Amino acid sequence: MTLGDASTHVGTALADEFDAIVADGLRVEPRDWMPDGYRKMLIRQIAQHAHSEIIGMQPEGNWLTRAPSLRRKAILMAKVQDEAGHGLYLYSAAETLGADRADLTAKLIEGKQKYSSIFNYPTLTFADVGVIGWLVDGAAICNQVPLCRSSYGPYARAMIRVCKEESFHQRQGYELLMTMMSGTGAQRAMVQGAVDRWWWPALMMFGPPDADSPNTEQSMAWGIKRHTNDELRQRFVDMSVPQAQILGVTLPDSQLRWNEERGAHDFGTPDWDEFMNVVNGFGPGNAERITNRKQAHDNGEWVRDAATAFADKHRESEGGSK
Ligand SMILES: [Fe+2]
Ligand SMILES: [Fe+2]
Repeated sequence: MTLGDASTHVGTALADEFDAIVADGLRVEPRDWMPDGYRKMLIRQIAQHAHSEIIGMQPEGNWLTRAPSLRRKAILMAKVQDEAGHGLYLYSAAETLGADRADLTAKLIEGKQKYSSIFNYPTLTFADVGVIGWLVDGAAICNQVPLCRSSYGPYARAMIRVCKEESFHQRQGYELLMTMMSGTGAQRAMVQGAVDRWWWPALMMFGPPDADSPNTEQSMAWGIKRHTNDELRQRFVDMSVPQAQILGVTLPDSQLRWNEERGAHDFGTPDWDEFMNVVNGFGPGNAERITNRKQAHDNGEWVRDAATAFADKHRESEGGSK
């Protein structure tokens, strides 16, 4: 038997083992063999997810210095810090696949890797903080709960903790909106205005329609994704409609109505041209978000240098004492 035959044979056995793990709903771990395409798809998705958490700190961070009370400030600060934590878990998960965190950050800043289009919209009033919690974190929960069963172990485990925190984010947003809706007419109008601006971008968070989502099929075959974009979008709409009714706001979609036959809501089509425009870097906030991220990264250089120098020194002194 030639070496080539042997490696092919071993390769087939490893591929069979991988397929069996996925088929049985078990977890693929960092040391397991995995197809190159699987690794690449995961790095892309996890990096994009990590970038979204970190960039997502900006729209709400914008209101930290202007929160209307100490209580609101403490809640918002805790929420924004959670998002930083989510980013860090996710960069760590990407590193278990052989990605390099510095490289991922460089790719984000250079515009070579994407983040969720939603974070390119501006936060114009404090009601936006509430609506982001309710709708944006709500949509994130719809997306992320099924990822707790994703086939890649470190990603799935990171999602379990992330989802617990997202649930707090959603509640703090909804509670803020409830408070504002029981306030003055101006406060109610502010909430409705924020809902009008965020509803459609929130629907776009699930990605393009299934027919235009070329990676979905492979992602589902590998057990990374568990539901299609359109399924998750439908779930989000069905979940949000009764919440909007209790809140007393109108969702800005004239086609939104209950469909008895389907047992689900019919709803209008998001403006996919706007979505593509924002994804391609031309949304209202893209340039500002990346400029801020680059600035924060540049400002942190001395911290990274100091940490590296300290680690080197520590290693040297350990080596010396042996
Ligand atoms: Fe998050
Ligand atoms: Fe969140």
